[in-house]
Amino acid sequence: MFIKAENISKVFQDRSLPVTALKAVSVDIEEGSFTVLCGPSGSGKTTLLNLLGCLDRPSGGRVFLRGEEISALSQEKLTRYRLRKIGFVFPDFNLIPTLSAVENVEYVLWLQGISGTERRKRAAAICERFGIGALIHRRPRELSRGQQQRVAVARAIVHKPELVLGDELTSNLDHKTGSELMGFLKELNREEKMTFIYATHDPVMIERAGRVIRMQDGEVVSDEKTRVHA
Ligand SMILES: Nc1ncnc2c1ncn2[C@@H]1O[C@H](COP(=O)(O)OP(=O)(O)OP(=O)(O)O)[C@@H](O)[C@H]1O
Ligand SMILES: [Mg+2]
Repeated sequence: MFIKAENISKVFQDRSLPVTALKAVSVDIEEGSFTVLCGPSGSGKTTLLNLLGCLDRPSGGRVFLRGEEISALSQEKLTRYRLRKIGFVFPDFNLIPTLSAVENVEYVLWLQGISGTERRKRAAAICERFGIGALIHRRPRELSRGQQQRVAVARAIVHKPELVLGDELTSNLDHKTGSELMGFLKELNREEKMTFIYATHDPVMIERAGRVIRMQDGEVVSDEKTRVHA
């Protein structure tokens, strides 16, 4: 199994009151799969993604990646692992406003110490593939939300991570934009065997995912594998 979460829980201390964001959730994620997390606001999607992506540690339970318990790794090892192996699409995309689209995409490669020309070549190629090749010198504020989303996704996958975690706010993107993006993601999922776990409210993405995990009040209330492969 690629990722296995065993009875993971998360309790946040909000001033003096504890908030239980996740209650003993267990999930297995297969390598190369495409999973969507959905459920109402506050149901625990972001909390679960953060635990699966080593951005945070569970209060209880364990997370395994290819059999290794990542919830027990040192902070330094986790950071190194994250940088090489995981790509994130953050809520509201978190693009750096002072950098152009292509510089935003290059950023992760820069962190990895890859040379300038190689960085630019790889980042520009991904942008081209995502249909934003003509816009790479624009700053995020000069792009539409759909275009910003593509930059954010390009940035998450440019270093070819084995796991891509997406966390989107209720996106007001039109059907065509969502559908095109999903097409790109599914292509990458097939060709590069990247594993995707995406929290979204977008019906187009939910419809086309291979697996839909629905959450409510910190628990998984349904977990369905669909027949969608395309
Ligand atoms: N740092 C924190 N401190 C205190 N409570 C938190 C913290 N982070 C999340 N929570 C609480 O944990 C619960 C789950 O939050 P989470 O962000 O995982 O929900 P979500 O499903 O991602 O919601 P949304 O769809 O709005 O993004 C909520 O009740 C939230 O208020
Ligand atoms: Mg969230």
